[in-house]
Amino acid sequence: MTIKLKKQVIDILKILKQKKSECIASDLAIELGIDYIVLMSAVNNLKDYDLGNFKEVEINHISLNHEGLNYLEAGFPERQLLKILLEENTKEINLEDLIKRSKLDKKIFYIAINNMKKNRWVAQSKASGEGKIFLLAEDFPETNVEIFLKKFDKDKILDFSTLTKDEITQFDILNKRKLINKEKRTQRKIFLTDKGKKVKISEIKELSLVSKITSEMLSSGTWKNIDLKPFDVSKPGPLLKAGKIHPVINFINEIREIFISLGFTEIRGPIVESAFYNFDALFQPQDHPAREMHDTFYLNNPKVAKLPEKDRVLAIKNIHENGGNSGSLGWGYQWDENIAKKTLLRTHTTATTIRRLAQYYRTNEVPPIKVFSIDRVFRNEKLDKSHLAEFTQIEGIVIGDRVNLCDLIGIITEFYKKMGFEKIITRPGFFPYTEPSMEISVYYDKIGEWLEMGGSGIFRPEVTYPWGIENPTRVLAWGLGLERLAMLRFGRTDIRDLYINPIKWLREESY
Ligand code: PHE
Repeated sequence: MTIKLKKQVIDILKILKQKKSECIASDLAIELGIDYIVLMSAVNNLKDYDLGNFKEVEINHISLNHEGLNYLEAGFPERQLLKILLEENTKEINLEDLIKRSKLDKKIFYIAINNMKKNRWVAQSKASGEGKIFLLAEDFPETNVEIFLKKFDKDKILDFSTLTKDEITQFDILNKRKLINKEKRTQRKIFLTDKGKKVKISEIKELSLVSKITSEMLSSGTWKNIDLKPFDVSKPGPLLKAGKIHPVINFINEIREIFISLGFTEIRGPIVESAFYNFDALFQPQDHPAREMHDTFYLNNPKVAKLPEKDRVLAIKNIHENGGNSGSLGWGYQWDENIAKKTLLRTHTTATTIRRLAQYYRTNEVPPIKVFSIDRVFRNEKLDKSHLAEFTQIEGIVIGDRVNLCDLIGIITEFYKKMGFEKIITRPGFFPYTEPSMEISVYYDKIGEWLEMGGSGIFRPEVTYPWGIENPTRVLAWGLGLERLAMLRFGRTDIRDLYINPIKWLREESY
């Protein structure tokens, strides 16, 4: 088989032949001024013809840590103590005095004393009651470990495998004294096979790969002799920066389909809502804190909303004042129609489901009715990474005879299962318009946490009676957050990203 290699690969082969021994890949790449990846891909080409190969070896880099570097400069603490003794020109000293003079940390001081004893520089006596140190020797040549320490120079990194047996003994001492940093690295070493060593450069043909066949190649017939560059069909293609549907819209459509598959119909309602539908019809008293300006965006234009038919307004008034025909005592205050006429940006899509109850009343429908809405709501919130002032709710109601809490849990659980959540928990909650009320959380595997998703419950008689829905016909209701779910789906940690639209994210998101 004739060997065909690209010019660059032939050049690298030539250099490897000159080197005669193994080369460290990263060093060679630097020496040749080429990219490491280019070098390794050349080595892989050589491997295809069994000319060269590489092996991976683990190397242990060792260097001095901060303390070690200090000793390199100032000497080991035992040497520092010795210096003090020699400077004083004294042959004995009290331990306490020496400790004060040395300014060493107590722990290090005693290590130093121990090493002085080991080196047979000093002896210690407690005979006189206080610890005393006596100089033993006359001269104090550099110890082996001191000599070894100097091998590190300034900041030098050594390869453990290059140490001699004696050096390893000294290394162990430094290591035990915790003066060493160790780091494991894998290093690639490139070598030529026997075949690679023997092959003559003149036997190798230069390969020029062609990635495109031109019409000239076809008409002249030269295409028969060229080498075509193979395609790697597993490589991703270039990023298409085409227009596409916004990920959140697609996500909403996915949710839409789930409810439609469960037999629900979509409803929509106005964004500009009356306090009547947003609060009053939900049995929220007119002095309820959620109605305050700091939670709700009220509007100046239009300033007043049209209320529904007079008798229904009266029904709601009665509910608030005395419970009407619902069996409730109501709130017992004087209900003000003008407050109900205020206009606002709806704070929840529950307003829209109440409009659906009104329609049910007017058209004498028969249950069951199953509707949902996925729509924008507005609250006067400070924006941050987990709060928006304008967000989306997944809302729904089921009007049915004798439907109960188990049905509600079933629907919500089914929804989240279809969204990919296995664990759903419902806990008692409170809303002025439901009884019982439930809060819903889902378990998010990736972070191992329960995340709160929204509220639900069975509408109170005070909410349903004005619209002719009386026990045992009941209304199951829920309102769930969409953006939280979307953040999990798209792996965003800042909720604002969903609408600020970082272009990089939009491009990368697969739909
Ligand atoms: N409207 C409630 C909210 O915005 C959610 C909810 C809807 C609760 C329906 C109970 C029933 O948080």
